[in-house]
Amino acid sequence: MIQHQTLNEAVRLLQEGEVVAIPTETVYGLAGDATSETAVRRIFAAKGRPSDNPLIVHVASVEQAKQFVTHIPEVATRLMDAFWPGALTIILQSNGRASSLVTAGLDTIGLRMPDHSLALQLIEATGLGLAAPSANRSGKPSPTSSAHVAHDLSGRIAAIVDGGETGIGVESTVIDCTTNPPVILRPGGVTREQIQTVIGDVALDPALSMKNETPKAPGMKYTHYAPEATLSVVAGDLSFLQHVIDEARQTGQKTGVILFDGEDIEADVRCFLGTTIETAAQRLYDCLRRFDQTTVDQIFVRDISEEGVGLAVRNRLHKAAGGRIIRP
Ligand code: TXA
Ligand code: MG
Repeated sequence: MIQHQTLNEAVRLLQEGEVVAIPTETVYGLAGDATSETAVRRIFAAKGRPSDNPLIVHVASVEQAKQFVTHIPEVATRLMDAFWPGALTIILQSNGRASSLVTAGLDTIGLRMPDHSLALQLIEATGLGLAAPSANRSGKPSPTSSAHVAHDLSGRIAAIVDGGETGIGVESTVIDCTTNPPVILRPGGVTREQIQTVIGDVALDPALSMKNETPKAPGMKYTHYAPEATLSVVAGDLSFLQHVIDEARQTGQKTGVILFDGEDIEADVRCFLGTTIETAAQRLYDCLRRFDQTTVDQIFVRDISEEGVGLAVRNRLHKAAGGRIIRP
């Protein structure tokens, strides 16, 4: 594998139908030509991704987005004007130009213009729409550094373009604009509150809060982001969190805890998310991955508020915990 790739080399590889990990402002993506069946097959194979889970296509302009869809409804235009480039993936009616593997056979397609200069340069230089899921092995936390990508995909992909640590740290918000009104299928970097200032009240896919619903974003139904140790969300105050950890330690378990800076909790391994929900988003996946380098059996994290990007962070935490919640 070639690391610290020059952009020219990455451009050539992508044009030849190879797959290359690229930085975006959210998480690293594993990119390939969205119109090449060979490239898209390589993406699914490298990740070990189920073939019924569609990929997002990354573009460098609204004009390029138009190449992949039947039409752009007015509400989608308003969202693009407000949030592109940025962490918002917009689901529209596909015109069939992307490989049918990209859309997993659906008649819709997810499009996003990333807010990252290296990603935009690659899209422009190749002239390609780049299909790119997060560049992790399926089921693992998304990568927020090139080291995370190398850990998961070394030897399985042609190259990694290193752009340092990603800024936002959780994936893009996915919004379905094939329905009126649009619906948020996955909370992410662009917040529900931000979207509402542009298009008014916007609903969340009921599957995000109700266990028995089938999510409309196929990827949301899989176990995800899970560290090797058992993660539990603790719904209670700090003293209850300490009590839960102490109990686990008394049974001989090695414990880990995820905390905000300044929270004074004892455990065998501690990981800190900074002081704001934004730093928590940036550090969450690295934190989950760090526990895999330790021998902790159980990880605990206090439940968080759904305000702003908290909605996305909380969604990822609850998925990583597989729904395990410990209440007082
Ligand atoms: O921030 C991001 O979105 C990152 C970076 C690399 O851009 N990409 C990413 O891709 O997170 P991925 O494949 O890990 O997640 C895409 C999500 C999945 O849950 C998938 O099921 C959903 O978007 N999705 C893609 N196309 C869809 C469609 N046509 N209809 C419904 N959901 C779709
Ligand atoms: Mg992913």
